[in-house]
Amino acid sequence: MPIPIVLDCDPGTDDAFAVLLALASPELDVLAITVAGGNVGLDRTLANTLALTRLAGSQVPVHKGADRPILGAFFNEPRVHGIDGLGGIALPDGGAPHPELAADAIRRILRTSPEPVTLVGIAPVTNLALALTTEPALAANVASIVLMSGAWAEGNATPAAEFNALNDPEALSVLLACGRPVVFATLELTAQALATPERLAALRARGGGRCLQTVCDIQATVPRSRRLPAPPLHDPCAIAWLIQPSLFTARTCSARVDLGPGIGRGRTAIDRWNRTGDPFNATVLETLDGDGFFDLLGERLARLP
Ligand code: RIB
Ligand code: CA
Repeated sequence: MPIPIVLDCDPGTDDAFAVLLALASPELDVLAITVAGGNVGLDRTLANTLALTRLAGSQVPVHKGADRPILGAFFNEPRVHGIDGLGGIALPDGGAPHPELAADAIRRILRTSPEPVTLVGIAPVTNLALALTTEPALAANVASIVLMSGAWAEGNATPAAEFNALNDPEALSVLLACGRPVVFATLELTAQALATPERLAALRARGGGRCLQTVCDIQATVPRSRRLPAPPLHDPCAIAWLIQPSLFTARTCSARVDLGPGIGRGRTAIDRWNRTGDPFNATVLETLDGDGFFDLLGERLARLP
């Protein structure tokens, strides 16, 4: 049976791969896609999500969400994603979002779904946290929470923090305390999913339709990584975990997020060696078969129009 999911995103160049991978995979039943600000402003992340779902020929409803975190304001990353969020690659207009706001849609789905729903977060997790803060009992119908978020070592937004975690650490702490298992695809995991020129060429060579070629065009605009030999494809790793978990190894552990105002803010303390003795509330994905991941990505995206 397909896994029912809600996907929360901020497209975003790597989000574009993740959204299309989710829509192309029969293992998943995408009940809704909710959108936050993050990589770029919400006006652009929302328009990008609508354009991507229409490009894929999908009828999955898209819901507008938070344009700011629980505290403060999002900071954007146009250096990686471009001003428009998709590297300047223009997509046909995707129309208007569903009138229901993101947190309301998440709560409705959790309240009415006949089976537990997996929440997938590949953005600052404000929408997910707002839903569960407003109606905490709905966590009982959450199967798990799968996030591209955090790092056990250095960050990519600050030396301490990964971008999504730093953009709304309070929201991440809500999810870590909600009583449902949180799966982390951290920066160490996504560093095993490098979009090298060879892998990008192999994706293009699959042919496929406009979707695959468009995300390859988008990825080609991403600047060289200062941290790694090639840009990591962060967000589709979270989707791939649900589709083909055999590509991964994982470890259960405890995890916390630093809510302080200082240089450590947004740091995820992922206790892989159980040094704290804290209750296990997380699963951290540790290794990925990178070639297998790109094979899966190409095979699925080539199915799309
Ligand atoms: O740190 C990487 C994460 O931040 C990804 O989700 C990327 O899209 C950005 O949102
Ligand atoms: Ca993202």
